Amino acid sequence: MDATAATTADAAGAPAIEQLGYLVFEVSDLAAWEAFATGVLGLAVARRGPRGLALRMDGHAQRFFLVEGPADDLAAVGWQVADEAGLEAVAARLRAAGHDVVEEPAEVAAARGVVRLLSTVDPGGVRVELVFGPAMADAPFASPLVPSGFVADGHGLGHLVVSTGDDAATGAFYQQLLGFRLSDRIVCQFYGFDVDITFLHTNARHHSLAFGGKQPKRLHHFLLEVGSLDDVGAALDRCAAAGVRIAQSLGRHPNDRMVSFYALTPSGFQFEYGTGGRLVDDASWQPTIHDRISEWGHHPPERYVPRRPRPPRPDPERDGTPGADGRTTP
Ligand SMILES: [Fe+2]
Repeated sequence: MDATAATTADAAGAPAIEQLGYLVFEVSDLAAWEAFATGVLGLAVARRGPRGLALRMDGHAQRFFLVEGPADDLAAVGWQVADEAGLEAVAARLRAAGHDVVEEPAEVAAARGVVRLLSTVDPGGVRVELVFGPAMADAPFASPLVPSGFVADGHGLGHLVVSTGDDAATGAFYQQLLGFRLSDRIVCQFYGFDVDITFLHTNARHHSLAFGGKQPKRLHHFLLEVGSLDDVGAALDRCAAAGVRIAQSLGRHPNDRMVSFYALTPSGFQFEYGTGGRLVDDASWQPTIHDRISEWGHHPPERYVPRRPRPPRPDPERDGTPGADGRTTP
């Protein structure tokens, strides 16, 4: 089956996004989020502001922005281009296709720690911020919770899966206008639901963005990749200790080969925490369609809970004969 025949073709020569630069979440419980982000995910507070805070995970000064508010959802996605010429090229292509592109004031760019920021909205209603020139941190990132470190820097902060009411329109927006390339699709049934997810890459990371239909929130999940399986296991233990609800057990995806688990953030959308994601070489990559979400695992945790064991039946030979007081004698 030819995946490209059923999905928007990649646009030759389209200006390319370099990487997933940052995510902005509007969160109703900032204190819970700070404790979760630092104590469970292993991120670090980079800066505090009047309505929120910024977090870091690698050489970038800021990778996540938490803004206090009722939405408990994705507020914006920062896609980073290489330079000002790249930013202009992306904006020109968007405008030529009829999209509004807004030049945000310098103070908005400064708050995100970038040189310049243009904004638009994708077909699923996600605010897209196109930026270049991110501020870099003064010191290398190191977390005692994640000794192997996060796999980020030039590969971007991770990936995200967004909601869309129109897969074809979303595919066209990201592939034709922003220069994303098709990695593959997963088309299958998963616990009775029809699944059809499209995965796009914009650097060597297998996918920086995926989408597949409408979700209750704009964001289904974001991924953090760490350098070792031990650090995934340790994160799983921190979830258990902190009472973080696991959504999908440890498992391995067939397309990006990531070994990961899924759990709920304090805002209700999910995060994926994994290791060992494969890299894509555009010179030789052939998009395919996979017929399962996971090679193994990624089940709801309830699937692993055994039925309560039955009490053993009385066995006089084993347990002795009940005495007058009802007790047994050995
Ligand atoms: Fe994922």
